[in-house]
Amino acid sequence: MTDRRRIGIGLISAGWMGMLHSTAYRAVRETWPDLGVDPDLVIVADPIEVNAHLAAERFGYRETTADIQAVLNHPDVDAVSICAPNFLHREFALAAAAAGKPFWIEKPMGASVAQSREIADAVESAGLITAVGFNYRHAPAVAHVRRLVREGALGDIRSVRVWLNADYSAAPDGPRTWRFVKEMAGTGVLGDLLSHGFDLAQYLVGPIVEVTSATRTFITERPAPGRGVGHSVTADSDAPPLPVENEDYASVLARFQSGAMGTFESSRIAIGSRCDYGFELSGSLGAARWNFERMNEVEVCLSGELHYGFTRVMTEPGFGEFGRFQPGAGMGLSFDDLKTIEAKLFLESILTGRQLAPSVADGLVAAGIVSAAAASAEDGRWHDVPVPTGRTTFDA
Ligand SMILES: NC(=O)c1ccc[n+]([C@@H]2O[C@H](COP(=O)([O-])OP(=O)(O)OC[C@H]3O[C@@H](n4cnc5c(N)ncnc54)[C@H](O)[C@@H]3O)[C@@H](O)[C@H]2O)c1
Repeated sequence: MTDRRRIGIGLISAGWMGMLHSTAYRAVRETWPDLGVDPDLVIVADPIEVNAHLAAERFGYRETTADIQAVLNHPDVDAVSICAPNFLHREFALAAAAAGKPFWIEKPMGASVAQSREIADAVESAGLITAVGFNYRHAPAVAHVRRLVREGALGDIRSVRVWLNADYSAAPDGPRTWRFVKEMAGTGVLGDLLSHGFDLAQYLVGPIVEVTSATRTFITERPAPGRGVGHSVTADSDAPPLPVENEDYASVLARFQSGAMGTFESSRIAIGSRCDYGFELSGSLGAARWNFERMNEVEVCLSGELHYGFTRVMTEPGFGEFGRFQPGAGMGLSFDDLKTIEAKLFLESILTGRQLAPSVADGLVAAGIVSAAAASAEDGRWHDVPVPTGRTTFDA
């Protein structure tokens, strides 16, 4: 019988991501019984009482509160999840670091590169374990492509194409929530979607050193928010419309340290694209491409094979953590499972003292690229990306 360790969890903000983190913690115990960890859901904080109560009811948190300090000061809480809107990340992450609590924070880490740096510095001085929600890294197909790259099966990677196109803001009559306000969200798709893309590309191919970019806001004003909370806020069509302060669309050219060239594209108003998030790597010996909408498969082409061309490969045990979830090829994993893998990495990092999950240093690197791209969109020049510091894991 494995010795088991209880890790008390406090959840800050019980919206969509808060619910997913909770599901993930519970699933870790069943998916990795041999890890010897018992996540114990202790307390949830959300100013919207109904959200906190719903989380307690669904997942078994014993206490609810509107006060995040009650979570951070709770004697039974060993680690926290920060799933608040972007404009609260800095305040909550700094408070967690001051309380000495390891935390799992959603992306983008800060609402700006300066905020991300403050968070990373506080974590480094406190010597804390962290996790950042760069969930696409954990797809078994992505793990397989990373292995192909590292083993040299694709040769020298020459081009990296990454796209994150979605239609979640395509309707012009959707309300102007915090996501469209610069002070609250920071950038638009650069931070919201491309922070994932920059992290993913670096996880596969290594550091990005320089970028140039163009951005545009197509829907320049939206109705004021009316009733409802989170993703169910309605528009108040009687109030005057409000300006959209960040970009709907971004395209970015990048140079990697390895010499590879990259193109990144992202839109939140791409009609027909639900979660069209993918990449294509092309190397001197082969190529691979993947799309989150079909995340359980990957297309690979290796030069010199008899039937030359892209072959569709279904994920199976041996591809990343696939075997923990399903015993046979073709049985699909879901988005929730990627979060479960992230929760496992976070908890395992706490158990072992080794930073295994995407870290705040990785969050800072992504924020640095977002900031360089935003600066380039202003002045049309190439911008250097700050050199990574701290405990990065994309290159581990
Ligand atoms: N990793 C991913 O793929 C992914 C996907 C979606 C969202 N996110 C990120 O997750 C974060 C949350 O997004 P969401 O979609 O879950 O939002 P959401 O609107 O569903 O939930 C936000 C929650 O924060 C709560 N909140 C608001 N003010 C608060 C306060 N002062 N104290 C505590 N809680 C407060 C709200 O009541 C709500 O319950 C964002 O940073 C977003 O970028 C990441």
